[in-house]
Amino acid sequence: MSKRRFKVLRGLRDLLPEDVEKLKYVISVIREIFKLYGYQEIMTPTIEAFSLFEKKAGEELRHRMYKFIDMGGREVALRPEITPSVARFYINHMLSFQKPIRLGYIANCFRYDEPQYGRYREFWQGGFELIGSSNPEADVEILNIASTLMKRLGFSDYYIKLNHVGIIKGILNSEKVPEIVQNRILGLFDKTRYDEAIQLLKSENVTDECLNIIREVINLKGNNINQIIDSAEQYICKYSLAMEALLNLKEILSLLEKSELKIPILLDLGFARGLEYYTGIIFECFSSKNNRLALGGGGRYDTLIELFGGPPTPAVGYAPGIDRIILALNEEKIEIRTEKHRKTIVIPLSREFVPYAIKIASNLRGFDIPVEVEVMGRDLKKALSYANARNFDYAIIIGSTEVKEEKITLKDLNKGEQYKVSIEEAINMIKTSK
Ligand code: HAM
Repeated sequence: MSKRRFKVLRGLRDLLPEDVEKLKYVISVIREIFKLYGYQEIMTPTIEAFSLFEKKAGEELRHRMYKFIDMGGREVALRPEITPSVARFYINHMLSFQKPIRLGYIANCFRYDEPQYGRYREFWQGGFELIGSSNPEADVEILNIASTLMKRLGFSDYYIKLNHVGIIKGILNSEKVPEIVQNRILGLFDKTRYDEAIQLLKSENVTDECLNIIREVINLKGNNINQIIDSAEQYICKYSLAMEALLNLKEILSLLEKSELKIPILLDLGFARGLEYYTGIIFECFSSKNNRLALGGGGRYDTLIELFGGPPTPAVGYAPGIDRIILALNEEKIEIRTEKHRKTIVIPLSREFVPYAIKIASNLRGFDIPVEVEVMGRDLKKALSYANARNFDYAIIIGSTEVKEEKITLKDLNKGEQYKVSIEEAINMIKTSK
């Protein structure tokens, strides 16, 4: 009977050592930013109640969750994102804490998306959630974090696409379009299916005048920010809620400008995001060299914590997509600084020297030198050939004279030279070599 050879499931990936190194690199840059901006890292479970994510997930994501009934009969889901978990976490653990609260995370997420370039069923997100402030400085901090991350990763040409959900929602609210339809409209905008959105509005009996205003507003896009805001103001001036949102956006943009952060903003009033919990700014980060894939997204969600049973608490956040960042870094040939350890292998010349080899290796590790012991019982030639193939820098060879004299033979595999030295000398040589 032939044995079944398992394969990784569709849309899921095995990460090879070099992939993990790249992941670790991007995570390390995100963690630098946690430190620089005062975000405390937390961890939440991979599985949560399905309803936690379902409530404001947006039509598409709602249907793309890994959802199942656990053995206790609960309807649960693998997390498709972390923001709802952070809102729950805040309510469970931090209600009495002084605000603001800055929380960061690194987590794998799961979405049953159709696998394609830059779209996986398991992927990694970093995240920043700033809880407790509704002031524009909080929005600016989150935008600045997104921009700082792009810069620190080495993207020379990037931009942040920005909008405010309150503008369109404000218009639709005034026109008494039910929230469920509003969300469907924004879902269609998210997929740039504007015509369908307009058709849907027509079927809701929205006036022609309003439709015209919406058509004009969603076409406003570019980096001539003042001009866009002025035009928008003219179109929407009769809608007070939409005007409030526009003023909030204006305040944030003005603070960005006055604080001289020089964040490249592309204002796009037709831009929407798939998640339904946003109440204020929404944004996505792109590298200009590849604007097919959003490298991160975020926005303000002032009602989510209350929706989960907490007190009204404003919040704003951002989640960079780590896998897509790696794709973009690779494509643009931006250096990914992977940690290079000097690698040393200890090779016993015969089995009787194995205990001594283990002892020496352990000794070296005590000095923070990464060491492998030859465990295959190969002869010197074969062990050295393995060491060369795996880019070792040093081999420590142990035979009878080495044990007798309490010395070792240290072979520098890059230079091809070898020395008989004491262990202390070997440690010194390995540690000081560049
Ligand atoms: P999101 O835009 O759904 O936002 O995801 C953030 C980022 O995760 C995306 O910009 C993208 O880089 C990455 N991403 C999403 N789906 C996939 C996928 N299938 N494969 C690979 N990468 C993917 C959120 O999740 C919000 N929780 C962000 C947020 C935080 N809003 C406020 N705070």
